[in-house]
Amino acid sequence: MAVKNIFKQNRSDVDKRIGKSPRLPHSPSPHLPVSLTPHLPVSLTPHLPFSTDRLRAIVLCAAVLLFTFFAVSRMARAQQTTSSPTATPAPQLNPAAWGSNHAGKEVPEFVTSGECLFCHRNDVGTTWGKNAHGLTIVQREDAPQFKEILQGQSKLAATGKEVEFFFGSRHRLRFLKKIGYGKFALLNAQATLATNAKITGWLNADNPTWDKEKFANSCAGCHTTGVDAKTKAFSSFGHDCYACHGVVDLEHTNDTSLIWLSKKRKSDALAVTSICASCHLREGKSKSTGLPYPNNFVAGDNLFQDFQVDFSQADNESLNPGDRHVYRNVRDVVMNGKQVTCLNCHVVHANSSSKHRLTVKTQICSDCHDTEKNIYKPATPYTVKSALCEYDSVKMN
Ligand code: HEC
Ligand code: HEC
Ligand code: HEC
Ligand code: HEC
Ligand code: HEC
Ligand code: HEC
Repeated sequence: MAVKNIFKQNRSDVDKRIGKSPRLPHSPSPHLPVSLTPHLPVSLTPHLPFSTDRLRAIVLCAAVLLFTFFAVSRMARAQQTTSSPTATPAPQLNPAAWGSNHAGKEVPEFVTSGECLFCHRNDVGTTWGKNAHGLTIVQREDAPQFKEILQGQSKLAATGKEVEFFFGSRHRLRFLKKIGYGKFALLNAQATLATNAKITGWLNADNPTWDKEKFANSCAGCHTTGVDAKTKAFSSFGHDCYACHGVVDLEHTNDTSLIWLSKKRKSDALAVTSICASCHLREGKSKSTGLPYPNNFVAGDNLFQDFQVDFSQADNESLNPGDRHVYRNVRDVVMNGKQVTCLNCHVVHANSSSKHRLTVKTQICSDCHDTEKNIYKPATPYTVKSALCEYDSVKMN
């Protein structure tokens, strides 16, 4: 309730800023002249004895009308440029132009999540174990609920015993085993999950086989931390704090501006966007390695100096909103110089996107809502899909 009210206030503010109010095209013409024409002259004539005052009033009146006319036509023009859902903003900036990168260099030393959580157990520690990032890969002994799913599939009675790690937690559950330092083999079988982590079916359970190459070649960079570009071995499984916060100076305890994404260091839209985009732009490719994940990205780097992405995906109407809005937001920031980032809508540790209601209305809203009609009812359900992550198929067996 409170949130809605705040949004309403905010929305009128928003409308002012981008000149897109549902009332605009109609209201100025019927309301303004009507209220000006009958009220002013009528009330002015009897009350003003001096013609100079009368003249002044008429001039004032004309000025008000003229000003209104210009304001309305300017807003109408602004509306034309912002409201058309098909309009493609012309690319203006070169995404690779700023900053530097670590492609091909060694993975830097970083403080691991165990150490960070020692101090941050009361703020971040309480939710990290339930966060999708924290859960992307977990050890067998830490996930009894996934172990149960695995043991429930009789076709995996033998192979299942070899599984040491679980991969995924919301839509799909995959299975991994260690094959040397920083390397996993990936099982072809996968369980499909419903929102409550309940199993809904199985894929490829009939003929379970371990693939020793696929994880390193296609998955590691976005589901583990600190992947060496040459050996493709990871430093930590799953997402360590380093993946988003970068190389953390322990002096940050005294000066939080030293750490990426702290309250004092999250306003640099380009750098922040590079961090989230380093994993969330699926279907991109590293120029230097040819792999589908970045080459040694470190928070603070410019991702786009080595990572190539087809931003026209933002205009792909057949793409579902979950995937498309990411492309659109990244393009808005890196090519069109916009300042709204993922963090204006998502609060990663709170696992919440409710803040997005308060965000300034732009084209991105129409990826999920009918902004033409100003409808912000919860968006229609959609299915996030990915050929890269092997969950575009709905075939069950
Ligand atoms: C470019 C980075 C990237 C690469 C490479 C990548 N993924 Fe993903 N993966 C993601 C992102 C980002 C998500 C979350 C997307 C979302 O929820 O909208 C994800 C989600 C998943 C999920 C769904 C988890 C869940 O339960 O919802 C699975 C399973 C998965 N990936 C498997 C894989 C596999 C298997 C590979 C390699 C064959 C792979 N991914 C390669 C970035 C990547
Ligand atoms: C997927 C990216 C990501 C990962 C991984 C991540 N963080 Fe964060 N963290 C953020 C973002 C983004 C913020 C800024 C808060 C905001 O505005 O959403 C943040 C904020 C924080 C804060 C400030 C307090 C707060 O809740 O806002 C602390 C402390 C923190 N992170 C610690 C950690 C620790 C410790 C880890 C590892 C266990 C970690 N983070 C892993 C993205 C991440
Ligand atoms: C020795 C204890 C200690 C360790 C280890 C530690 N931190 Fe902190 N951290 C602090 C203190 C103290 C602050 C400042 C007070 C605060 O804002 O919580 C802080 C602040 C932060 C903030 C900024 C909060 C804000 O103001 O927005 C982030 C983000 C953060 N730490 C993340 C991490 C990450 C990631 C690691 C591991 C790489 C880490 N910390 C390791 C104690 C620690
Ligand atoms: C190291 C790769 C990586 C980075 C960096 C990263 N993400 Fe993710 N993110 C993922 C993967 C993988 C998943 C899906 C995890 C899973 O379900 O297994 C995910 C899931 C999510 C989800 C869906 C969570 C849910 O519960 O529905 C959101 C939202 C998200 N990320 C936002 C962000 C934001 C914002 C940033 C930047 C601060 C960011 N991510 C940085 C890889 C990453
Ligand atoms: C204008 C607000 C806004 C911006 C900007 C934004 N998002 Fe989202 N995003 C949302 C909303 C709202 C949802 C839907 C959440 C829900 O269903 O509760 C969402 C969903 C997601 C999901 C989950 C998809 C799924 O259903 O599994 C991921 C992952 C995600 N966003 C990542 C990002 C990343 C990464 C960025 C920055 C590049 C970003 N978003 C920018 C509002 C935004
Ligand atoms: C990725 C999809 C997505 C995008 C982009 C998105 N929304 Fe939403 N929006 C949702 C979903 C899902 C809900 C319902 C769940 C929730 O409240 O987070 C929602 C709910 C809302 C609500 C609450 C409606 C109600 O009746 O409770 C408002 C207001 C809203 N969005 C405004 C916006 C604005 C403004 C933008 C653009 C800045 C935007 N949304 C962009 C998906 C999206």
